[in-house]
Amino acid sequence: MVRASNSFVCTNCGAQTKQFFGRCSSCGEWNTLVEQVIEAKDLRRRREGVDLSKEPSNLRSRPMGGVGQQLIERLPSGFQEFDRVLGSGLVPGSLVLVGGDPGIGKSTLLLQSATAMASQRSILYVSAEESAEQVKLRWSRIEGADTNLNLLAETDLEVVLQELESLRPEVAIIDSIQALHDSELTSSPGSVAQVRECAAALQRVAKKYGIALLLVGHVTKEGMLAGPKVLEHLVDAVLTFEGDRFASHRLLRAVKNRFGATHELGVFEMQASGLVEVNNPSELFFSGSSAAGISTIVACEGTRSLLVDLQALISPTSYASPRRSATGLGTNRLHQILAVLEKHISLPLSRYDCYLAVAGGLEVEEPAADLGVAAAVVSSFKDLPIPKGTVFIGELGLGGQLRPVGQLSQRVQEAERLGFVRAIVPSGSGTNSIEISNKMEIIEADNIAEVMVITAQGSLT
Ligand code: TYD
Ligand code: MG
Repeated sequence: MVRASNSFVCTNCGAQTKQFFGRCSSCGEWNTLVEQVIEAKDLRRRREGVDLSKEPSNLRSRPMGGVGQQLIERLPSGFQEFDRVLGSGLVPGSLVLVGGDPGIGKSTLLLQSATAMASQRSILYVSAEESAEQVKLRWSRIEGADTNLNLLAETDLEVVLQELESLRPEVAIIDSIQALHDSELTSSPGSVAQVRECAAALQRVAKKYGIALLLVGHVTKEGMLAGPKVLEHLVDAVLTFEGDRFASHRLLRAVKNRFGATHELGVFEMQASGLVEVNNPSELFFSGSSAAGISTIVACEGTRSLLVDLQALISPTSYASPRRSATGLGTNRLHQILAVLEKHISLPLSRYDCYLAVAGGLEVEEPAADLGVAAAVVSSFKDLPIPKGTVFIGELGLGGQLRPVGQLSQRVQEAERLGFVRAIVPSGSGTNSIEISNKMEIIEADNIAEVMVITAQGSLT
């Protein structure tokens, strides 16, 4: 075999050197040099078996009209929540990257999914991090049924590629891409060059045989998927598995998805015998408690709405500038809402510290949570609980006005389903068309001052 020679390329300016430096001698950036194989084309040709030397005899492009439409059969992953995030299942020949912090449960999720799929299809599970015995141990812990799941404990890319070619499974799982290594490259496993080469080689085989590939990827200290964005561009879907290490629930989200929507959320719970999907996640994030400083909002995550508790703590400050901290919500958003409350309902918040937290480690990004944040802040400031059974939906404008939000009827219906009796929503949201029972009351408000008057009829004044 002709060994390819290696060189190093700066990812910032593109300069090439024969030697590795910590700092690029051309542009002066640190840690930007990555290794690359020269004559990599030869290797690729060998792997693909394509003869590029042959002159193309005719045109290879086709008019769009002449391209046939292919009905894609999606492969169910064994978890409804996983399928939802993927966009109703795995697409043959696609690459899905599942990222997340160490110990969050990526291997458990994929092993459980592989076990479920293996009852009907041929599945290969490549474990590059754990030995076959360790995987078996985990497998018996999740009470894996006796299916014909194929297991390969291997870190050499070439062996994995050969196994994929000879077994030709419908789905293959690589746990993890950072632990694989290509012996053509001298850099260590997990380096950018290795991750990129391994993923690209796997992708070629996956596309050739229509294998759906699930790759596990680690998250770096900075919270990015390792292999700086290289993998994210290459794969068809990037999912992140996240959660609070101290809480049992785990959230699966799509960051990128070529075959589905990206805002879907899958909710799981880690139990002693593996992950269990949570079909009714509102119960996880909402407690029904009615202490001062707690308000309830309805957040929309893709096609599903969730009831979420927000908690605020307002106390007189002992610093020159008050402390503001928000968990699960942008601090800028909190600053803005506090400024609106100070200006439009005359709360002297600039003399108070403000802490805000979203229950259960959930991130609430949408502006529809604004009104709920304002309600929690006012409730804590006045030390009065919000009337029981009230939910707040609405975006708060800088002038104190309420702005309509999307998916209102879906949100109100979810609140009703969980026993809420009152929803405070922005005026002009078209509430007449929402189908609800007589018990539920929808109150429209124009601005934050009006909301205060309405809730004052309960106990919040
Ligand atoms: P793991 O899947 O190994 O995480 P990752 O692959 O993302 O690094 O999950 C490890 C954690 O999950 C570990 O701390 C133990 C816990 N766990 C359970 O609570 N129950 C189980 O059945 C299994 C298999 C793991
Ligand atoms: Mg793992």
